[in-house]
Amino acid sequence: MSIHKADIKKVTTHQLQEMKNRGEKISMLTAYDYSMARILDAAGIDVLLVGDSASNVMAGNETTLPITLDHMIYHATSVVRAVERAFVIVDIPFGSYQGDSTEALRSAIRIMKESGAHAVKMEGGSEIRESVERILSAGVPVMGHLGLTPQSIYKFGTYTVRAREEAEAAKLLEDAHLLEECGCFGIVLEKIPAELGKKVAEEVSIPMIGIGAGPHVDGQVLVMQDMLGITKEFQPRFLRRYADLDAMITDAVGNYIRDVKSKDFPNENEQY
Ligand code: KIV
Repeated sequence: MSIHKADIKKVTTHQLQEMKNRGEKISMLTAYDYSMARILDAAGIDVLLVGDSASNVMAGNETTLPITLDHMIYHATSVVRAVERAFVIVDIPFGSYQGDSTEALRSAIRIMKESGAHAVKMEGGSEIRESVERILSAGVPVMGHLGLTPQSIYKFGTYTVRAREEAEAAKLLEDAHLLEECGCFGIVLEKIPAELGKKVAEEVSIPMIGIGAGPHVDGQVLVMQDMLGITKEFQPRFLRRYADLDAMITDAVGNYIRDVKSKDFPNENEQY
């Protein structure tokens, strides 16, 4: 029996909340292009994040800061075209929402209108409250992002674990409550102690998606290139690799080069 497109039940914010309520973990990965998004969606991933990590893994930048709103919309549009089931969230990039809620709203509306994505994600807590509320009031679902927030890397000065100190942990918990009260549908918690992840996931009723936040949160997210073994040099403790695509691709390309050089490719069945 084949499954028709119309029979596919799309993932919604409501379903994500229900998953948390019944204790079913939410699976989330990043995606930036049509071909990979199609594979991840067909494999059954719940959420695809068009992360501003595209700045690192797609464009080769050292940080997420250089990526622009136009770049993000280009990646998001490609991902949305591929997806039949997953919920698609797009990062609002650095410089497109901080400090000016009118610009924040304009950025969110451009992402939603031009890419067809389902929600946006923003880094920060109380500092961006006005922007979060303004976007939510326009009917755009917002996911928060607390802990290690890479858009602030030059303020932190390091990619090390956040909120080990009591004061920073207390602020993070406060911000998570605030984002819930504003109406966010979920929060990414990046690189924080597992015990803090547990506390936030227990205290705050919306889904908490962790990346280096331990096993007690409501779901997990990884950068696709990291979990598939494409970014070999990046080896944080929280990362589990599910494939070694670097080795597989190197091997395949080596075989192709050999066959071209030896004139084995193309053979008589591979020509017109
Ligand atoms: O941009 C990104 O990939 C992210 C994840 C690390 C959560 O924000």
